[in-house]
Amino acid sequence: MKHRVPSLLLATACALLPLPALADLALATAKNCMACHNIDKKVVGPAYKDVAAKYRGDKAAPARLAAKVMEGGGGVWGVVKMPSNPQVSESEAKKLVAWVLSQ
Ligand code: HEC
Repeated sequence: MKHRVPSLLLATACALLPLPALADLALATAKNCMACHNIDKKVVGPAYKDVAAKYRGDKAAPARLAAKVMEGGGGVWGVVKMPSNPQVSESEAKKLVAWVLSQ
């Protein structure tokens, strides 16, 4: 019994962890997004929570933002532009934007 308790706790902890969200944070980190963005504070680019709040309910936002992630652009959050991110494929851009918008 002594041995079973930790593994039971571990299994419970694993069940509670939002694994897809972690996977997308890993993707965002691997694709260098986190060099300029943070989830809840502005760095070079806006906080992802602020991006999510701004576009909540905007059905056109996911496609528009995925294109912007790939091509770069500015004029929405301040004077600094986001450079293009050619290391990101279209499907990765969509996945990343869906994750950003869920923050
Ligand atoms: C070199 C810094 C930099 C990197 C790297 C970067 N961004 Fe940005 N990002 C910015 C800046 C600056 C803005 C604000 C642009 C503006 O005001 O329109 C921005 C804006 C955004 C927005 C909101 C766009 C809008 O129109 O509201 C999203 C979504 C976003 N970034 C996602 C990403 C993702 C995903 C990645 C990784 C593939 C990434 N960014 C990499 C600097 C960066």
